[in-house]
Amino acid sequence: MEALSNKLSDYFDVESVDGRPLLKPQRRHVDLRILDEGLVQTAICRSRIGRIDASIPRLEYRGYDVAELADHADFLEVAFLLLTGHSEPTAILDFKRQVDSYMERLCDLPVTLSSMVRKSTATDFLALSILTALSQREAELKDDSRPLNVAAFLLAVIGISVAVYARGGSEALDTHDQLQLTRTNFIDRLLHAALSRQPELFAVSLMNKFLILHAEHGLNCSTAVVRAVASTGADPFAAVVAGICAFKGPLHGGASEEVGKMYDGIFRESLDVARFIDDCLARRCRLMGFGHRIYKKPDPRAAYMKRLLIDERENFSLILPYVGICEAFDQEVRTRDYFTDRGLCPNPDLFNGILLRRIGFPSEMNTMLLCFSRSIGWLAHYFDSLDSKAPILRPQELYGVART
Ligand code: ACO
Repeated sequence: MEALSNKLSDYFDVESVDGRPLLKPQRRHVDLRILDEGLVQTAICRSRIGRIDASIPRLEYRGYDVAELADHADFLEVAFLLLTGHSEPTAILDFKRQVDSYMERLCDLPVTLSSMVRKSTATDFLALSILTALSQREAELKDDSRPLNVAAFLLAVIGISVAVYARGGSEALDTHDQLQLTRTNFIDRLLHAALSRQPELFAVSLMNKFLILHAEHGLNCSTAVVRAVASTGADPFAAVVAGICAFKGPLHGGASEEVGKMYDGIFRESLDVARFIDDCLARRCRLMGFGHRIYKKPDPRAAYMKRLLIDERENFSLILPYVGICEAFDQEVRTRDYFTDRGLCPNPDLFNGILLRRIGFPSEMNTMLLCFSRSIGWLAHYFDSLDSKAPILRPQELYGVART
């Protein structure tokens, strides 16, 4: 048998990217295996959509700092930016009109979806809504290669789905009427329909910030799934639904719902947060809302929301007990070596439910509303994957090789 080479340079070209070595196989098929469980080290694509610098830490969408976008931009403008890579006022206005127009064309969707609400969890309902709307109304969109048109349809469907679910499926016709009201913006009309009341300006602004903060986050698990589906040639809606299914897991976006339930339990039973954390550690459970694969310092999105709770204190006075629980977790964890030694900081899920509760949504909708926002990042990656002519994703496995 030929002697195996141990020299990396026999297999890889070594480049430097962002001050780190990058190994590139010398040929498409190199006769070796790389065991990288969880794809911790492996890049499966190149992209210019969202950039994470965990050392600062900072998150950028197409070169713009996410905190600045959350402060100053409108969600649909950010969606346009993520999908196209640029910002053009006239084209953005057209995109907004496209969303409105789909909202009107899907006028009977609330009635169709209403009967399905009580049988599903919020994320399952969202996935079903997308497939239902598509099969009943706009099947030809499956072959549409225009990202903005696909996104406009998807946002309209998701908006309707959120409104119908928030109302528990009741008053479907009323939901439809309120979605059709001409209002200043998409979020305003959506909240009106979801909450059955004219939303306060603060709630509209909070929802806008929330949707911007979560619209894109690089190649996390669900986005990798979306790119995997895109690489098979499947349509964008299949990819987004696959993204939702990956996202709803409790270690990923589902953590937001878990944190919501944790807060509800602590509030209802007046539990002590310090004791709750100690019990969790004693049982070797994962404390939801903490830890991140990439960030070992405070996550910029979590830091943004934490600052918001301080700067807008009065506006959160309606839900102060929940704010208190959230802040107690943040503070208590910082005093425990278990978390500091492992670089386990609050992730956005510790704060998401607080913003959503203040807007008027129950905990069980936390993950669905994150999917609403992330659908844009998923679509941006879907079309980026098509543009880059990515080969079908086909990782290797080591059959029969036991762990050492
Ligand atoms: N609570 C307690 N311990 C934790 C937590 C946590 N939340 N997160 C990680 N750890 C511990 C692990 O047990 C491990 O300890 P060990 O070294 O003694 O074995 C160590 O920290 C490293 O954990 P890993 O699993 O290697 O970290 P990884 O980067 O793979 O996981 C993850 C990241 C999945 C987010 C993890 O931190 C976690 O499960 N957090 C709780 C769920 C959560 O909030 N998820 C939302 C993430 S943000 C998002 O997806 C929107």
